[in-house]
Amino acid sequence: MAPIKVTKICCIGAGYVGGPTCAVIALRCPHITVTIVDLNQDRVDAWNSEDFKLPIYEPGLEDVVRQARGRNLFFSTDVDKGIKEADLIFVSVNTPTKKTGVGAGFGADLHYVELATRRIAAVADSSKIVVEKSTVPCRTAESMRTILEANSKNHCRFDILSNPEFLAEGTAISDLFKPDRVLIGSLQTEEGLEACRALADVYANWVPQERILTVGLWSSELSKLAANAMLAQRISSINALSAICEATGANIDEVAHAVGCDSRVGPKFLKASVGFGGSCFQKDILNLVYLSESLHLPEVAAYWRQVVEMNEYQKRRFSKRVVDTLFNTITGKRIAVLGFAFKADTGDTRESASITLIRDFVAERANVHVYDPKVEEEQIWMDLTEAMPQLPAETIKKQVTLCSSALEACKDAEAVVIATEWKEFTLIDWETVYANMKKPAFVFDGRLLVDAKKLKEIGFKVTVIGRGNGL
Ligand code: UDX
Ligand code: ADP
Repeated sequence: MAPIKVTKICCIGAGYVGGPTCAVIALRCPHITVTIVDLNQDRVDAWNSEDFKLPIYEPGLEDVVRQARGRNLFFSTDVDKGIKEADLIFVSVNTPTKKTGVGAGFGADLHYVELATRRIAAVADSSKIVVEKSTVPCRTAESMRTILEANSKNHCRFDILSNPEFLAEGTAISDLFKPDRVLIGSLQTEEGLEACRALADVYANWVPQERILTVGLWSSELSKLAANAMLAQRISSINALSAICEATGANIDEVAHAVGCDSRVGPKFLKASVGFGGSCFQKDILNLVYLSESLHLPEVAAYWRQVVEMNEYQKRRFSKRVVDTLFNTITGKRIAVLGFAFKADTGDTRESASITLIRDFVAERANVHVYDPKVEEEQIWMDLTEAMPQLPAETIKKQVTLCSSALEACKDAEAVVIATEWKEFTLIDWETVYANMKKPAFVFDGRLLVDAKKLKEIGFKVTVIGRGNGL
């Protein structure tokens, strides 16, 4: 068969994955026209905004978009035109955990993927390579192929590839510029392998050949779930050990360092925390649990489920420690929560530990003062009302105040809780914070961020994840 050369790419979905990924492809491949389409007009308008007020905050992203937008990178709501013109289409739509029906709370809600796939089948009038980019359960590519083949017109051919994205938010652009690996899964047929080669050629414009891994379709789909499950498992393992440290007086940072020095274990992803968040870890593990159960592998399902349960336990344990330390009641007390994003350098709040902590503090009838450097106020209100459906929005607004600086949030507070590891929080003037707080003044460090010894010298009562109260 004739070799395929990709010159026009369409990406369906202008979110945290599709946006940065395809912007970097456009930057690195000036000979390829990249159009990112999305049904959400506001999102597309923000991507196209004159002052580059992009819909997502990601260090380095604005610079990439400034260089490529209007040259060979375009954002549009015209999904059909994008599909028609492209030779390769990334499907990068959202795949949240199902809220109702079979597999509710575990399985992925694939209806956005299905709608996008049906749209491709309905409007394509030439052959396409269709690439699943969203994280999906194993064998989704098979369903996409069935839908496309059953609905194709004019003898259009559709070759399906799986090309999961491994970028982490906050470091997305550097991850995309220098990926550890690019993974492409295809059917091992002549056509499948040719499609795989065509996509590999796109990445070869900036990724060294040896980092482009080509595998079977199912291995690729499972590898994405496996990678996220194993990363999350490391965090839950270290968080489980943090509970032992708190009870025994050991120090989790010292333990993590000693363990991570073993080259077989390695030092990364061993930072104890108030719990992992983000759109991927919990969702992907629950996907794996659901998959294991549907394959009649209950022991495998229970094994992975425990990683998520440990994470829930860690969040619960932390908020309980706050209440216990504040003399068993926080009713009417002012608590400052620093950080609302699920990690530093992003405005994303999906599954953020902060949401759980604030929900727990509100349940104890505390007055919570929240500050985050990047998250929009509207987003915070949306997350909190969703997390506390039993409370009217006015009640939540009476108990929660949004602040425009860390100092403002901490003023007159009885306790400061650090929930996100923003660099800005390492630069706080703690002497001033102390002077403005009620006494005794407490600090709870859920991110191992502050110099506990220094804070104690100032006069704070300090509690740190993974350390006993003697610190
Ligand atoms: C993750 C994967 O890293 C990425 O490869 C995949 O494509 C998507 O999911 P992301 O969720 O964006 O990326 O961020 P990540 O850096 O993995 O952090 C996830 C959560 O774990 C955050 O809440 C972070 O604060 C927490 N974390 C991370 C820890 O608590 N300790 C650590 O040592 C590392
Ligand atoms: P992710 O973090 O996986 O990128 P997001 O929720 O940030 O997920 O982005 C997914 C995007 O996909 C959203 O902006 C949503 O509007 C868009 N989307 C979902 N379904 C379709 C569709 N059928 N056609 C075009 N865009 C879609």
